[in-house]
Amino acid sequence: MKDEAYLRHAELVNKLDEQHDLSDSELKELIESPCEDTDLFAAADRLRRKIYGEDVYIRGLIEFTNHCKNDCYYCGIRRDNEAVDRYRLTDDQIMDCCAAGYDLGYRTFVLQGGEDPYYTDDRICEIISKIRKAYPDCAITLSIGEKPRESYQKYFDAGADRYLLRHETADEAHYRKLHPASMSLENRKRCLFDLKDIGYQVGAGFMVGSPYQTTENYIADLRFMQTLDPDMIGIGPYITQSDTPFRDMPSGSLEMTLRMLGILRLMFPDALIPATTALGTIDPQGREKGFKAGANVVMPNLSPTAVRDKYLLYDEKICTGEDAYQCRGCLEGRVYGAGYRMVCDRGDRRHAPREILKG
Ligand code: SAM
Ligand code: FES
Repeated sequence: MKDEAYLRHAELVNKLDEQHDLSDSELKELIESPCEDTDLFAAADRLRRKIYGEDVYIRGLIEFTNHCKNDCYYCGIRRDNEAVDRYRLTDDQIMDCCAAGYDLGYRTFVLQGGEDPYYTDDRICEIISKIRKAYPDCAITLSIGEKPRESYQKYFDAGADRYLLRHETADEAHYRKLHPASMSLENRKRCLFDLKDIGYQVGAGFMVGSPYQTTENYIADLRFMQTLDPDMIGIGPYITQSDTPFRDMPSGSLEMTLRMLGILRLMFPDALIPATTALGTIDPQGREKGFKAGANVVMPNLSPTAVRDKYLLYDEKICTGEDAYQCRGCLEGRVYGAGYRMVCDRGDRRHAPREILKG
């Protein structure tokens, strides 16, 4: 019986490796398989090495505001969480983060924050223009939530080139369980397609093990991303935050997160896939394990140490005490220790020719 399960697991991994797709029922079998994923990780690692070699790209993350007008039930900086000490970085502080990052070799800056109305389109464009002018060789990534198409266009015209907006879940009923009525999956998807259409390199993604999530929800996520064809796919475990309505919900598991990373690499061979801070939070070796399961990006924090412990999306978040220099050193050690190479260029997606994917 056990042998049969292993044979079937291997068969599914082989098929996914060769065809970069499975039927819904095959995906369900693989996602729910009782077997270990050694063969899945080996296949994912082989494929990533074919396209990206040993390269792991670094992106400098600047968490510039923890104010948010949204109230997502899972998120530590949601509007109704009164325990949060709110902050905003000034333009000068943001530029200081970029300067420190540039000196450390970073060529991508990711500006992430809650949906904070203080940062009007004009303010965001001003920040983008300053960074673009000072660092013409760097990629500027935004991760500031849902906006009208016109706003996305303005940011793009000001010099932003990438946008991260996890779709969170592609299933309507699941989306409703994670978000208040003021938010909609339809709008989130609209944003992603607008961003793509404007010309951004787009990142989508979801949390693994989020409350009420089912295997069918994962399959819907994978199918949605096949339609979107994102350049980047950000996934990490859901981690409980004790000041949210989901305080009693269990966190997602390391095993399922790694399994999803492996599946994503085989389904989206040339995607940029980070080993996230959340993955490093649920397991001390989580990011190293993530690289070996197919991840090829890390996003060390560049925010000033004084505000790090105020951007607590979830409990026990790591890297809140280190400065930018320490974070980079620590991650570089982890990347090399796992058998990969940290790369300091912009790290654009390498669209893999079909021949590479065969055989
Ligand atoms: N406001 C922007 C947005 O909505 O895309 C960016 C900031 S938001 C905090 C970034 C991501 O954090 C979300 O897309 C979500 O997947 C993740 N996140 C929020 N709460 C989390 C939790 N409790 N555990 C793990 N990830 C979480
Ligand atoms: Fe807005 Fe989490 S609820 S960033």
